[in-house]
Amino acid sequence: MDFFWLLVVNITLSVLSTPVFSLTTCPCSDSSLCNPVSSPPRKEVLVFQHRGTLWKSYDWSIVTTVAMFGKYDPDLMCYAHSKGARVVLLGDLPVAQLTNSTYTKLWIKQQVKLAQDQFMDGINIDIEEALPNTEAPLLTKLISDTSKAFHEAIPGSQVSTDVMYSPNCINECCFDYKGIADACDFLMLMSYDEQSQIYGDCIAMANSPYNKTAKGVSEYLKLGISPDKLVLGVPWYGYDYTCLHLTQDRVCSIAKVPFRGAPCSDAGGKQVAYFVIQQILAANSTTGRLWNSTYEAPYFQYKNTETGRTHQMWYDDPESLSYRYKYAKSADLRGIGVWHGDCLDYDGKGKQQAKEMWEAITSFLQV
Ligand SMILES: *[C@@H]1O[C@H](CO)[C@@H](O)[C@H](O)[C@H]1NC(C)=O
Ligand SMILES: *[C@@H]1O[C@H](CO)[C@@H](O)[C@H](O)[C@H]1NC(C)=O
Ligand SMILES: *[C@@H]1O[C@H](CO)[C@@H](O)[C@H](O)[C@H]1NC(C)=O
Ligand SMILES: *[C@@H]1O[C@H](CO)[C@@H](O)[C@H](O)[C@H]1NC(C)=O
Repeated sequence: MDFFWLLVVNITLSVLSTPVFSLTTCPCSDSSLCNPVSSPPRKEVLVFQHRGTLWKSYDWSIVTTVAMFGKYDPDLMCYAHSKGARVVLLGDLPVAQLTNSTYTKLWIKQQVKLAQDQFMDGINIDIEEALPNTEAPLLTKLISDTSKAFHEAIPGSQVSTDVMYSPNCINECCFDYKGIADACDFLMLMSYDEQSQIYGDCIAMANSPYNKTAKGVSEYLKLGISPDKLVLGVPWYGYDYTCLHLTQDRVCSIAKVPFRGAPCSDAGGKQVAYFVIQQILAANSTTGRLWNSTYEAPYFQYKNTETGRTHQMWYDDPESLSYRYKYAKSADLRGIGVWHGDCLDYDGKGKQQAKEMWEAITSFLQV
């Protein structure tokens, strides 16, 4: 359903069978930069790093944690540490192995070793396969054991878990959310791809509708999870939908692509990075930027040059993100997260837009 994640999963499933990359000596010019970051719990600005060296252009005055989801990059580790930011691993395993305690024990050992060998500060556990309610305790135990192992081996380390935008078995991920929140440092809410299961009209909608996002957070809080255990993840990408039919009031019917029991999903569209969306908005839009005030999100339409078809693009920009950052602040959440930091054009025509995307985060941080 989500091509960004699929890329990642293919890499990580092989972890147990291939020798892990490991360093023998500190790769940083100043060897003290190989020490784990020891700052106490604080408001988080967690950024997922996906590929390449665009991280050099992140706003390091506000980043607190980088989840290194691309290839391990020692320069990124040294640099992040020089800015007091933690660097965490991607943690993923096949849920079929949760019943195999030989596997999970070995997995935990390997993750800790990988983090130590690479001078990292923890792990972000990202398991998005369907998990039936009956197996939820196994995942909670894995996360609890992983937390204990990390906190013991690397003092001050951080263990977080990625979860769906709401705790209601979204995408058939029926975790024990309260148990997991208790077992690790915090939950990173993936408050995007919120149209992964559409049961009503099969139409284009916002990726991260404000009303649905806020409802999801409130449901986590209702479980008795402290706001200090919740990081609100937001998208720096959007969805491009081809309209099969378009009404005068801009309701765009999309291809019916089922996903985990739902007849329709955002897999009927295509994920597009923010900087590409801005290029299409500038060059091809037939409507200009429009605003949906229920979703607090922008969208626009354009005609594809090659096919002549009308498309509807739903996305987030500094204005819509500010609503979400302000919400996170007003709810006193632990932090915000960004999927992902490499969706921007830091050096070319999108440079100013990239700056504005980072600046919008100040609406979460301002006191
Ligand atoms: C359990 O995990 C171990 C270690 O990876 C593996 O050797 C074994 O085949 C697994 N058992 C099953 C039933 O998958
Ligand atoms: C959000 O608003 C849309 C459009 O009005 C509505 O269909 C949907 O049910 C709302 N969602 C929630 C969770 O309130
Ligand atoms: C936002 O879009 C939804 C369709 O997805 C529609 O039901 C709703 O009325 C729109 N809200 C506004 C204020 O236009
Ligand atoms: C947008 O317009 C430009 C210039 O006319 C064209 O080259 C490009 O293919 C168009 N992009 C799309 C997605 O249709």
